Order: sequence, then structure tokens, then C-alpha cells
Amino acid sequence: MTLYDLHLTKKPLPAQGKYNGAQRIAYTAIVLMGLGSLVTGLAIYKPSQLSWLTSTLGGYTAARVEHFALTIGYVLFFLVHIAQVVRAGWNNFRSMVMGYEVISPASKSSMEEQH
Ligand code: HEM
Repeated sequence: MTLYDLHLTKKPLPAQGKYNGAQRIAYTAIVLMGLGSLVTGLAIYKPSQLSWLTSTLGGYTAARVEHFALTIGYVLFFLVHIAQVVRAGWNNFRSMVMGYEVISPASKSSMEEQH
């Protein structure tokens, strides 16, 4: 999916469900990153009370680096995500906010003809 989006493959568009392969990886990763921020954040917030956690993460400095690296990850996710949203168009953005897609009768009947 990533190769397709970057125009680096001649293969056809991979199968699309509600979310495509790249989206599914990205959204799962964001949830895991959220857990990572919580855990590394707690490790640098209470390094003596939670010393077992801080040392599990490689020590205070390492936990701080991990905490900050996750933030860079969110920024990268945000930039790519916004670029993809712009590419996908206004109807897609509206569906992200409102929870439904607007399909005009004309495009609906042309979609039905294809099936
Ligand atoms: C999505 C969630 C979070 C993001 C994006 C985030 C981001 C950041 C950033 C950018 C810094 C500054 C980096 C640095 O000082 O090296 C920071 C510092 C810090 N964060 Fe978070 N954070 C998040 C969640 C948390 C949570 C849940 C906790 C604690 C329970 C926490 C505790 C701290 C502490 C204690 C610092 C100060 C570290 C220092 O000055 O060395 N953070 N966070």
C-alpha cells in the first residue's frame, strides 16, 4: 500500500476494506504508541517510586529519549495523515468529522452500474 501511494510500484491498488493495510498498521501503531507514552511518561515522572519501570526502559535518560522519540512519531503520523486526508478529498474529511459519507444520486447509480 505504501509503495502504491508513493508511486513506486506498477501493481494495482491492493484490496481496500473499510481501512487499507497502511491505515490499519498506522492506527494500531498509534494506540501502542499511546501506551508507550504513558509508560515512558510515568517512568520519567516518578523515577524513584517507579524505579523498576525506569530501569526496565533502560534508565532515566533512555526513558526520556523514548518519550521524546514517541512525540516525533506523533508529529510524523500527523503530517502523513493530513497529507493523505487532503489527497482523499473533502467528502472523506467530512465523513471523518460527521461519521457518514454523502453519495449523490448520480454517483450512486454509476457505482451500481459497475457492480
Ligand atoms: C501522548 C502523550 C504524551 C506526549 C505526546 C508527551 C510529550 C512530551 C514531550 C515532548 C516532552 C518533552 C521532552 C523532554 O523533556 O525530553 C515531555 C516531557 C515529559 N512528559 Fe510527556 N508526553 C505524553 C504523555 C506523558 C504522560 C502520560 C506522562 C506521565 C504520566 C508524561 C510525563 C512527562 C514528564 C515527567 C516530562 C518531563 C521530562 C523531562 O523534563 O525530562 N508524559 N512529554
